[in-house]
Amino acid sequence: MKAVILAGGDGTRLHPLTLVTNKHLLPVYNKPVIYYAIEKLAAAGVDKIMVVTSPRQVEHFVNLLGSGQNFKSKNTGKQTQIVYGIQNEPRGIAEGLWIAKDYISNDNCVLYLGDNIVEDDIGEHVANFKDGATIFLKKVEDPVRFGVASVDKMGNVLEIEEKPKNPKSNLAVVGVYIYDNSVFNKMTGQPKSARGEYEITYVNNKYIEEGTLKSVLLKKDWFDVGTSESLFAAGNFMRNKISRLES
Ligand code: G1P
Repeated sequence: MKAVILAGGDGTRLHPLTLVTNKHLLPVYNKPVIYYAIEKLAAAGVDKIMVVTSPRQVEHFVNLLGSGQNFKSKNTGKQTQIVYGIQNEPRGIAEGLWIAKDYISNDNCVLYLGDNIVEDDIGEHVANFKDGATIFLKKVEDPVRFGVASVDKMGNVLEIEEKPKNPKSNLAVVGVYIYDNSVFNKMTGQPKSARGEYEITYVNNKYIEEGTLKSVLLKKDWFDVGTSESLFAAGNFMRNKISRLES
């Protein structure tokens, strides 16, 4: 299983913090945002990662992460191999994944939005993955900020709506997705959304139509650090976690 971390975007909701640097390089307490994604993937046994970012900032990521020499894969004990892909303009998450198509080749993949911090372990879901798609859901108080899943009584996902004005549930779709190789076919002919992006929600709905999308409800904390409020909350959370571990 390979992984793609998306670390592009303009981070406009974090201006002026992101006027000269990338959101994923900002600190969450004692580490840059993107470290949390890489460490989570390495702990899940993923040892090949493509970081997709903008041409303006790729150099900063290379300086920080190099070839992945500071991250050890749980499976092999060897370093995680990190390579880089370039997204010229931020045209959506699905396009970001498409850039990694040749890198993924015939493999399955984890798509990880680099501004997401997930406390649950995802290792068993990566290890047990066979086909279709696995998405992660989290109950939130402000679903309008996210992709929102409507589910039936059994917990099966019926539909996902991207940032709906009137959300049908409080179940946000977390920015970590496990896909089989058919994910690229599902993007063929994909239209841009009203906000001008190739949405990952479109792709997830294709899996739902096919009956192959599974969902997992996260139990622990989850942060999408796209706003100063959530960046601050994530930093506080990590600080408290570290002081708990040290005491
Ligand atoms: C993206 C996805 C959304 C998902 C969210 C999770 O939104 O489009 O479905 O719930 O990530 O972080 P964005 O943060 O790019 O607006």
